Amino acid sequence: MEKRYTIHEVAQMFHITTNKIRFYEKKGILHPQRDMENNYRYFTEDDLLKLQAVLVYRMMNIPIEDVKDMMDHYERENILNHFHGQWKCINDEIHRLHLIQDCLEGMMDTVYDCTVLNGNGLSGKLLSFAHNMENLYQIKNNWKDRWNFDDWAQSYDASVQKNVGRLGIYKNYEQVLDTAYHEAVKDKSTHQKVLEIGVGTGNLAKRFLSSGYDLIGIDQSREMLNVAKKKLPHLRLRLGEFLKIPYGNNTFDLIVSTYAFHHLRDEEKRIAINEMVRVLRKNGRIVLGDLMFENDIKKEEIYSTLAHEELAEIEDEYYSNIHMLRETFSRYDMHLRFIKIDTLNYIVVVESF
Ligand SMILES: C[S@@+](CC[C@H](N)C(=O)[O-])C[C@H]1O[C@@H](n2cnc3c(N)ncnc32)[C@H](O)[C@@H]1O
Repeated sequence: MEKRYTIHEVAQMFHITTNKIRFYEKKGILHPQRDMENNYRYFTEDDLLKLQAVLVYRMMNIPIEDVKDMMDHYERENILNHFHGQWKCINDEIHRLHLIQDCLEGMMDTVYDCTVLNGNGLSGKLLSFAHNMENLYQIKNNWKDRWNFDDWAQSYDASVQKNVGRLGIYKNYEQVLDTAYHEAVKDKSTHQKVLEIGVGTGNLAKRFLSSGYDLIGIDQSREMLNVAKKKLPHLRLRLGEFLKIPYGNNTFDLIVSTYAFHHLRDEEKRIAINEMVRVLRKNGRIVLGDLMFENDIKKEEIYSTLAHEELAEIEDEYYSNIHMLRETFSRYDMHLRFIKIDTLNYIVVVESF
């Protein structure tokens, strides 16, 4: 028989009062059943999971009505999807607070500096910190999946095999993934902690897993994560974005990504690079396999050879300019080299000088 818990046991387990549990029941958020004999409430393990979720949301000051909405949603979703949602909520909040903290730190330093300068131009400088923070917050939170990867997830592997699209960007797909993998692991032991961003259906991750690497895959698409989980049940997957990587500073030795970075505009790419460098350990390595141009001149040369529809396909996304990537990484004292796979596919490998 399914294990049952009394309201007192539940209260003790979560360090809350029984009144709080009754309140959530009154609000229609929890639905404990009643014992046929004594009519006492009892809670199942599923009720405990729901209560855990409610407490996390309340800790984040989410209004009770919104919590109810999310919990109504819970009934329909599978449990992993629900945890992915919680994970995203918490990560968004962490990133928001870090932004505020960084901004405050800059403001405080400015006040110290300005005291020495008799306060000249102080308010202008402080306002510019607030403005920069707001700007960064907007960019980090306004990225949208215009391509609808959730809808593409089930058929993604077949599309790659068929090399869909006029440009034939997937014609060397396996070679791109193989090269990215080999460049990433070159001289690196399997003890390295690996992050893959835009893991998709897990095709690159599979290469790391089968060699015994400790890899976590993040992706902004729940459906891609669901497909990857079906293919590779032991792969650790999390909802996550380039612009708000859901991990702390200096967590990974290797960061890899294929065919994902070109969904970011240039200003987003710079923030994503800052994020990757933040979570990368000292002497770590970043390997990106993606659609790129070496520089503006090469881009013009390639554009001049393409038909109108092919150009439209490129312009729907944001292929990287390797020159710009090199310049951005150099600000973090990191050196970039690249390997050309074909006209549009490149692997870039980035390491500390
Ligand atoms: C074309 S698929 C590539 C999937 C896989 N990496 C591969 O090589 O087959 C792009 C993947 O990147 C993910 N993606 C796109 N933009 C992203 C972002 N800003 N943050 C995280 N994932 C992103 C998409 O959801 C999708 O799964």
